[in-house]
Amino acid sequence: MKLFLDTANLQQIQKAKDWGILDGVTTNPSLIAKEGVRDFHGHIRRICEIVRGPVSAEVIALDTEGMLKEARELSKIHEDVVVKIPVTPAGIQAVGVLSKENIHTNVTLVFSAGQALLAMKAGATYISPFLGRVDDIGWESMDLLEDLLTIIDAYGFDAEIIAASVRHAKHVVEAARMGCHIATIPFQVLEALFHHPQTDNGIDRFIKDWNQLQDRLRKEG
Ligand code: E4P
Repeated sequence: MKLFLDTANLQQIQKAKDWGILDGVTTNPSLIAKEGVRDFHGHIRRICEIVRGPVSAEVIALDTEGMLKEARELSKIHEDVVVKIPVTPAGIQAVGVLSKENIHTNVTLVFSAGQALLAMKAGATYISPFLGRVDDIGWESMDLLEDLLTIIDAYGFDAEIIAASVRHAKHVVEAARMGCHIATIPFQVLEALFHHPQTDNGIDRFIKDWNQLQDRLRKEG
């Protein structure tokens, strides 16, 4: 499973890169706003220089022509840029055009298998079901994910599914268990994947035992 970081924060991206487990990054307008970014294209370029993997940058236009214009400009920033497009009729039309131009797309804000099917047919490179936000409205995010993976397998669509809007480690693990291609996760969730209280207890115990042995050996001469 590939792990993407869902952030526009350069320090977080650098840290995950240093850990050696970062395969890509996804951003959205809210994440860009959170970092107070003034130069959107410059910021996306900087992310691409750190990551060396797919970096999603979202269009703001809501009409097909506007989306295409933004998408073509974004794709010129760096070869790793993936254009993120919402799953609307205008968006699906734009994805169809962009896939013929070999511009990679990430169809975002997906909440149903029907939406995902349209994105697959349009030639989307990536499709992002929003797991956390599906759970928020009382639906079963894992049922949605299972439907998407079943449809992809049944027809051999090329798209990869990105488990998005991830809120906790369990989302990541359940998506991995189902064979989901990618999870894009906030930095706190990535940190949470490392932690287990028994790991901390185990390290404490090993260090304590080691130090006791060293003390004893010193005393024995
Ligand atoms: C996906 O690519 C989105 O950027 C993201 O996962 C949205 O997550 P949120 O629901 O936590 O805002």
